[in-house]
Amino acid sequence: MVGHASLQTLDGCAVADAAIVEHTFHVGNLTVERLGQRQVITAVNGQFPGPKVEARDGDTIVVRVVNKSPYNITIHWHGVLQRLSAWADGPAMVTQCPILPGAASYTYRFNVTGQVGTLWWHAHVSFLRATVYGALLIRPRPSSRYPFPTPHAEHTLLLGEWWNTSTGGLVDVERQAFLTGGQPANSAALTINGMPGLHAHQMHHLHVARGNTYLLRLVNAALNYQLFFKVAAHAFTVVAVDACYTDPYHTDVIVIAPGQTVDALMHAGAAPGGRYYVAAQVYQSIANATYSATARALLLYDYEEEEDQQHQEIMMPTMPALNDSATAQRFYGRLTGLLRDGKPTVPQRVDTRMLVTYGLAIAPCAPAQTLCNRTRGSLAASMNNVSFQLPASMSLLEAARAGRSAAGVYTRDFPDRPPVMFDFTNASVANGNTSLMFTSRGTRVKALRFNETVEVVLQNTAVLGPENHPLHLHGFNFYVVAQGTGNFHRQWAFNFLG
Ligand SMILES: *[C@@H]1O[C@H](CO)[C@@H](O)[C@H](O)[C@H]1NC(C)=O
Ligand SMILES: *[C@@H]1O[C@H](CO)[C@@H](O)[C@H](O)[C@H]1NC(C)=O
Ligand SMILES: *[C@@H]1O[C@H](CO)[C@@H](O)[C@H](O)[C@H]1NC(C)=O
Ligand SMILES: *[C@@H]1O[C@H](CO)[C@@H](O)[C@H](O)[C@H]1NC(C)=O
Ligand SMILES: *[C@@H]1O[C@H](CO)[C@@H](O)[C@H](O)[C@H]1NC(C)=O
Ligand SMILES: *[C@@H]1O[C@H](CO)[C@@H](O)[C@H](O)[C@H]1NC(C)=O
Ligand SMILES: *[C@@H]1O[C@H](CO)[C@@H](O)[C@H](O)[C@H]1NC(C)=O
Ligand SMILES: *[C@@H]1O[C@H](CO)[C@@H](O)[C@H](O)[C@H]1NC(C)=O
Ligand SMILES: *[C@@H]1O[C@H](CO)[C@@H](O)[C@H](O)[C@H]1NC(C)=O
Ligand SMILES: *[C@@H]1O[C@H](CO)[C@@H](O)[C@H](O)[C@H]1NC(C)=O
Ligand SMILES: *[C@@H]1O[C@H](CO)[C@@H](O)[C@H](O)[C@H]1NC(C)=O
Repeated sequence: MVGHASLQTLDGCAVADAAIVEHTFHVGNLTVERLGQRQVITAVNGQFPGPKVEARDGDTIVVRVVNKSPYNITIHWHGVLQRLSAWADGPAMVTQCPILPGAASYTYRFNVTGQVGTLWWHAHVSFLRATVYGALLIRPRPSSRYPFPTPHAEHTLLLGEWWNTSTGGLVDVERQAFLTGGQPANSAALTINGMPGLHAHQMHHLHVARGNTYLLRLVNAALNYQLFFKVAAHAFTVVAVDACYTDPYHTDVIVIAPGQTVDALMHAGAAPGGRYYVAAQVYQSIANATYSATARALLLYDYEEEEDQQHQEIMMPTMPALNDSATAQRFYGRLTGLLRDGKPTVPQRVDTRMLVTYGLAIAPCAPAQTLCNRTRGSLAASMNNVSFQLPASMSLLEAARAGRSAAGVYTRDFPDRPPVMFDFTNASVANGNTSLMFTSRGTRVKALRFNETVEVVLQNTAVLGPENHPLHLHGFNFYVVAQGTGNFHRQWAFNFLG
């Protein structure tokens, strides 16, 4: 539902026809069949993936969420800056208490201003985002245009993961991981718009007309995997990532991390009469990793002889090797932000510097944690030897507002550097080094002054084995100023450590 209102921009100019985009999300059980098995999942409005939210730059979005599922729920609006609307961000016990089962409801209200492109929304409680997700598209205002040729049409492709569970769905996968203290079970298959595409009857179809250019809006909604995306006999021009425009980048393979979005133009100009697979495959730097089945969708040219197409074998794109880090690094290394008149560029002054190691570790069971392996602890992500512990009594935002850091909700002492320095990335040195292997738990925040510029060096570690770890900071975009493999320049680091 879309209503109209006259809104004021910050500089006082009237924005004609800024709209209020309203939705009601009923979260509940949905029975679906995938991979030859019927199962009950948690979904929004009986749809999987969930409903698309479509707005224009400057619109206000209002979504009432009604929880008819058996689980606590919240919804996160992934990538939305939430200026002056932090209560609407969504992570459970960070900005709000969860919406309880039994048809409790909560209304999210925020505006999308100064952002154009593809974002998405998902549940932000336990593993429920595996099935509770959908696209959030922000288009330019009618008076404005894209900094690239206007495409003829667009297709939204949500990439996900599917677990072939026979019982209570994904909550069981999570319970199992906590109980054993190990990795969650791998998903059985990847999906494109909810379909694994391993069989013809469960495959998403993408219709195009010859000669047209399409804007593909890709969202990686997978829980774990960074993905390679290709379309047989077609190439792309990447024009935006995470609702930020990029310099046009030509490539035949897209690399996309969990949580990330990519907007890419694709020209429908392949050889006539052909049928082509669209494929999403795991990228995993670990050698010998086990992985989920590659997802496929079918690209079909409209208005061409059905007969011709039926007799053609479907062409599969040649996918990179699962551990093709060179391809992944080439993609990320060549993507650059689009310089635009009047838009901010990389800050020249840094106020605060941080060096943050991150990777997997073993965390002790929290006192009240029932789902935990008491002898082993649980596998946990750790940054500077701290694994984040959600508060139990009130949300972080509520505590911050009430000035409650001293009252046991959180402490303002997240470390600016790791407790020790060593060769973090040489597996034969780092793997099993107990200095960072047994992490502490804590609700420790880094407090900043308004308008500070922060430089963060993220140092991945091989302490429990090497793994890809994308990073997303709610409410902010980054300028990536450098990236590479190995340890961050030691001399700088030692000077920094003083
Ligand atoms: C955006 O949202 C904030 C918080 O809800 C509100 O104060 C502000 O007026 C809104 N701005 C516009 C242009 O709608
Ligand atoms: C749901 O949220 C409530 C309120 O925060 C909490 O007391 C309860 O333990 C949560 N339930 C589950 C299953 O996590
Ligand atoms: C929803 O599914 C769960 C798990 O299968 C089940 O325990 C619950 O009873 C179902 N709820 C409703 C309202 O159907
Ligand atoms: C807990 O961890 C220990 C040690 O790794 C292991 O032997 C045991 O099987 C685990 N418990 C469960 C329930 O998986
Ligand atoms: C999923 O489960 C069904 C039923 O148990 C089984 O037939 C099928 O092979 C499984 N598929 C995968 C990919 O594990
Ligand atoms: C990968 O598997 C091969 C063959 O089984 C084995 O020789 C090699 O050591 C394994 N590599 C790792 C890093 O586990
Ligand atoms: C990728 O994995 C294969 C098979 O496990 C291995 O032979 C190869 O060396 C790996 N390549 C890289 C770049 O790690
Ligand atoms: C990794 O560490 C081992 C053991 O100290 C050493 O022999 C090896 O040369 C190191 N590898 C690299 C690439 O630095
Ligand atoms: C483990 O890390 C410590 C730093 O805490 C370092 O001094 C030590 O050399 C490392 N151990 C190995 C075997 O590299
Ligand atoms: C990391 O945290 C664990 C758990 O608190 C602690 O035992 C260990 O000493 C810490 N590591 C360092 C290098 O301080
Ligand atoms: C933020 O800091 C910059 C200088 O770094 C200054 O130019 C700007 O006015 C400040 N903005 C606000 C809103 O304080």
